[in-house]
Amino acid sequence: MRRASLSQFLIERQRSGRINADLRLLIETIARACKAISTRVNKGPLGGGHGNAGTANVQGELQKNLDLMSNEILLEANEWGGNLAALVSEEMEDVKPTPTHYPRGEYLLLFDPLDGSSNIDVNISVGTIFSVLRCPQGPDGQMRVPDEKCFLQPGREQVAAGFAVYGPTTQLVITVGDGAYGFTLDRETYTFVLTQEQIRIAEDTAEFAINASNMRRWEPPVKRYIDECLAGSDGPRGKDFNMRWVASMVADVFRVLSRGGIFLYPRDSKNKEGRLRLMYEANPMAFIVEQAGGAATDGATRILDIQPQKLHQRIAVVLGSKNEVKRVTSYHK
Ligand code: AHG
Ligand code: MN
Ligand code: MN
Repeated sequence: MRRASLSQFLIERQRSGRINADLRLLIETIARACKAISTRVNKGPLGGGHGNAGTANVQGELQKNLDLMSNEILLEANEWGGNLAALVSEEMEDVKPTPTHYPRGEYLLLFDPLDGSSNIDVNISVGTIFSVLRCPQGPDGQMRVPDEKCFLQPGREQVAAGFAVYGPTTQLVITVGDGAYGFTLDRETYTFVLTQEQIRIAEDTAEFAINASNMRRWEPPVKRYIDECLAGSDGPRGKDFNMRWVASMVADVFRVLSRGGIFLYPRDSKNKEGRLRLMYEANPMAFIVEQAGGAATDGATRILDIQPQKLHQRIAVVLGSKNEVKRVTSYHK
């Protein structure tokens, strides 16, 4: 059987009218950047990406060399294509409008260039996450000069989202709103090949992912849920649960998409708003998970319905198998 490439997949969607040529080119550009990042990740200590850069991002987190390299690769790739109005990155404080000497397009791009940076130096999977929005038009129907406000749209407005995982294989998962699809990087032809059609997350699961070192700081509903999982067949759930925590959201979510599961990064008494960022971690992942038949909330509210207040806002995240997410959400009521 001949499998479709990412390009074929996107062309089909353009022909059916789901995406336009600009969005297709934008996704192609992001995928190309992900390939370049994948090559850098694979070089490991030989590629200069290991170690600390000696700088911190706007959220006060220390940046690794590979965080900055990945950011540069994505910036360079997206600067001149003509399909972007502006972009936002985890590694940059402010909105970066497309330079005036290039045509300005209709889309806004947000990304986490390198997710799971604490895993770079220890040879565990890392990845890239992205979200695409439409740039709102001004009252006169003209495109506005893109500012922070243009980006502050709830996640349900996303027109595309995706993530790459640089693991034993490089995988790219994307959605343009008609299901979630997975692609594997073929290192001989250097193309992404469709390997997971219409991903479906099992509605039930016996596997959870959470950083249990935060247990003493959790709110009671989360504590209750995890206690019940841990009690296993001796407790109210009547079955044993397994636990996984990669500490790279991309890898944890990829596992949930592959074999079901629930992923939680709740707010706690230290991370009062949560740990993950709404606009370039929670929103794109929530979009993909919903497209795969799963659910995503902040414990109470559907993530995609949350109105963002600022670019680098943090949020609690509960996502994955529908029935487990429902249960955690009901414990919060
Ligand atoms: P980033 O490397 O982009 O800052 O994101 C890391 C995130 C996420 O990938 C992961 O789920 C979580 O941080 C891990 O947090 P802990 O170190 O608290 O486990
Ligand atoms: Mn991240
Ligand atoms: Mn990151």
